[in-house]
Amino acid sequence: MQVPFNIPYTTGNELKYIEDCINTGKICGDGKYTKLVNKYLEETLFANKILLTTSCTHALEMAAIQMGLKEGDEVICPAYTFVSTANPILLRGAKVIFAEIDEKTLNIDLDDVERKITNKTKAIFPVHYAGVSCDMDSLMDIAKKNNIMVCEDAAQALYSTYKNRYLGTIGDYGCFSFHETKNYVCGEGGAISINSADALAVEKAEIIREKGTDRSKFYRGQVDKYTWVDIGSSYLPSDMLAAFLYAQLEAKNEIFERRERVYNRYYEGLKELQDKGIIRLPIIPDFCKSNYHMFYILCESEKQRDYLMANLKQAGITAVFHYLPLHTAPVGEKMGYKKGQLPITEKIGATLLRLPMYADLTDEQVDYVISNIKNLLLK
Ligand SMILES: Cc1ncc(COP(=O)(O)O)c(C=O)c1O
Repeated sequence: MQVPFNIPYTTGNELKYIEDCINTGKICGDGKYTKLVNKYLEETLFANKILLTTSCTHALEMAAIQMGLKEGDEVICPAYTFVSTANPILLRGAKVIFAEIDEKTLNIDLDDVERKITNKTKAIFPVHYAGVSCDMDSLMDIAKKNNIMVCEDAAQALYSTYKNRYLGTIGDYGCFSFHETKNYVCGEGGAISINSADALAVEKAEIIREKGTDRSKFYRGQVDKYTWVDIGSSYLPSDMLAAFLYAQLEAKNEIFERRERVYNRYYEGLKELQDKGIIRLPIIPDFCKSNYHMFYILCESEKQRDYLMANLKQAGITAVFHYLPLHTAPVGEKMGYKKGQLPITEKIGATLLRLPMYADLTDEQVDYVISNIKNLLLK
């Protein structure tokens, strides 16, 4: 049996909507489907304003520009994350301060955040790893107390909640990904949630996204020509991608239920190994409802993880490691970080194994993965 790591789910309506998009005669950004997606996300997330972007990386870049980050500023984020959390900060000339993660949730450790706040700290970029929420009340309290902005990296966390509030809508900004590995996809794509009720914040985001012009206002008939009004870039995707994504979002409950079933089956099947103290399974705190983006196991050691990964591969199962901690990557080292500085991050980076996870995964495939892991670890 072959069990790939990921297969993007399709609902059957993607091509129909793309064809319809082509027939509208407008396939560039901000056409019919982009508007539909923005509205759908705003309504279902109870969000103030959502703008579709070319990627989550670009949504994070937009937030960093909008926050006015600059040389001399410091921004705190975890080192256990994808490069896209840190790059937007460096691109503005600000300094990245890596914080440790919490061993239970693998999310940013708020005690370490507090220790690392200085009078130069302008923002925190928390990551909701695996679609599991950070403790947002405590994080927002720290941010408010210190007059610091928050941009939630919710790349993996669309439709997860913290105390019944959707992730990405709690900080000043939230950023989502529709990359093919995520729950809802369009190949490459993202969105930014602008959570400030200040209309100027939305206007500014529209300008940044439209190459520094007020073209969005022009399209709404609010100005009679558009011009260059600020810095910006090209962060809006083709409407054909939005058409693909709209089909996915319409099937959001079905996709959620399929992933939930896979997650629960893995959990039940592997619990015995956790009970025997051989591996650890993911923890979802009570304050969070997960979108079941990922299923990972934490091994005893790097050796055990690599042994599992290699042997599962022999059995046709693609299980993969995840982040190599950013502070030990060449760029992190150039910034002056060294191995040993964030021990929990390093341990998780060395021992975490992600199991195949996608909406079309069958019970037979999940059981095959479980029995292979058990055979390898119980013998
Ligand atoms: C935590 C995190 N942030 C940002 C990104 C970047 O998303 P995108 O590929 O849409 O740019 C990813 C992608 O996997 C991610 O996991």
